[in-house]
Amino acid sequence: MRSHIRKAAAPLVGEIRVPGDKSISHRAVLFAAMADGTSQLNGVLDSADVRSTMAAVEALGAVVEVLAETDHGLDLAVHGWGSDGPIEPVGAIDCGNSGTTVRLLLGVLAGYDVHAVLTGDESLSKRPMSRVATPLASMGARVETSDGGVLPVGVNGGGLVGGDHKLPIASAQVKSALLLAGVRAEGVTRVCEPAPSRDHTERMLPAFGIPVGRVGLCASVSGPLIPASADVGVPADPSSAAFLVGAALIVPGSDVTLPGISLNPTRIGFLRVLARMGARIDITTGPEMCGEPTGDLRVRYTENLTGTTVAADEVPSLIDEVPLLAIVATTVQGSTLFEGVGELRVKESDRLTAIADGINALQGGALATEDTLTITGGRPLTGASLDSLGDHRLAMAFAVAGLVASGETVIDGFEAVDVSYPGFAGDVAQLLLGAS
Ligand code: S3P
Repeated sequence: MRSHIRKAAAPLVGEIRVPGDKSISHRAVLFAAMADGTSQLNGVLDSADVRSTMAAVEALGAVVEVLAETDHGLDLAVHGWGSDGPIEPVGAIDCGNSGTTVRLLLGVLAGYDVHAVLTGDESLSKRPMSRVATPLASMGARVETSDGGVLPVGVNGGGLVGGDHKLPIASAQVKSALLLAGVRAEGVTRVCEPAPSRDHTERMLPAFGIPVGRVGLCASVSGPLIPASADVGVPADPSSAAFLVGAALIVPGSDVTLPGISLNPTRIGFLRVLARMGARIDITTGPEMCGEPTGDLRVRYTENLTGTTVAADEVPSLIDEVPLLAIVATTVQGSTLFEGVGELRVKESDRLTAIADGINALQGGALATEDTLTITGGRPLTGASLDSLGDHRLAMAFAVAGLVASGETVIDGFEAVDVSYPGFAGDVAQLLLGAS
């Protein structure tokens, strides 16, 4: 689908409840599937990625009942496979575009005596899987990737033993896969990471009756255990909110409120970076949800944003927000340097090359090296034809750019937004009408 975006003729004004957090939704569905009994999950993100996880656990014998489809997402009752363990799936499990589905599921399956083959779409089939397969194999699972360490991956689990894992990169997907395998493994499984990645797994597992030890940059579980059912409410997704935050900051006159966002410190590095740039963002803290701090964001257009340096150790806390931050950086005074962003090359697309190419096509200034990105601010953007490359976060970042670029910006493959934020275009349209 091709999207045509014209420079915003009005500010973005009003309040939008962005959809449920994608990372938390995946985990809630997976943990509920592993649990004994029925879990009630509220506000689960209804998007292509989370639907991949729902279909995967159903193929493995969990029953997912959709109780309600509301503006806030899906309310689900998940009847887990619990102590019976999963059933052998019929045929391969298609994880679609979802890295979180495939990597966390490999960790889950490693703990059970079943055989499964996991596949994915063209983008997911290019992404590295050895980073999960190798440590899971060291725990005793048989995990076979295809040549080059990619999908399809076959897994034959069971009989795991715990152990210590020192991750070479900060990856919540890898950390979570090992902790989930650790739930079913004999003894203690400890995972240490070089910098704090998102910690939703560590925060949510205790609600399902699995204690998690946390010391510094290490997390551990002791197994083997069977999770118990739990009731979980999913807060709104800061990564989806980020696109509306960015748009409000750079479209003159905007004033947008986004309630109920997860304010987990491992997720909101982008808010810290924007604050350094001088952004007018007010945060009102709200109640905890599922071990996650939440709150409301009020974002106002800010005229004199300035460039900054994003250090490598900040990157895990804003890994999915770099494309959006790069677009904001095109509009500010001075340059913005992102250090240590090489991981972006193995996301849903090579986001480092793609965002730099997109910004340059829009007549901005961007330079990507192997693992840095430099944006030269203050060069007015001009509408251009861009391609999402099937990557949801590129599609939304380019759309935000289109709101400030002169003339028209055309984005091919805009349907990719369905992966994480199907209502994105409607929410932007509603905010654009908010001032009238
Ligand atoms: C995610 C972890 C991150 C992130 C992805 C979701 C998760 O990936 O980019 O969108 O839910 O655990 P990595 O763990 O590969 O950095």
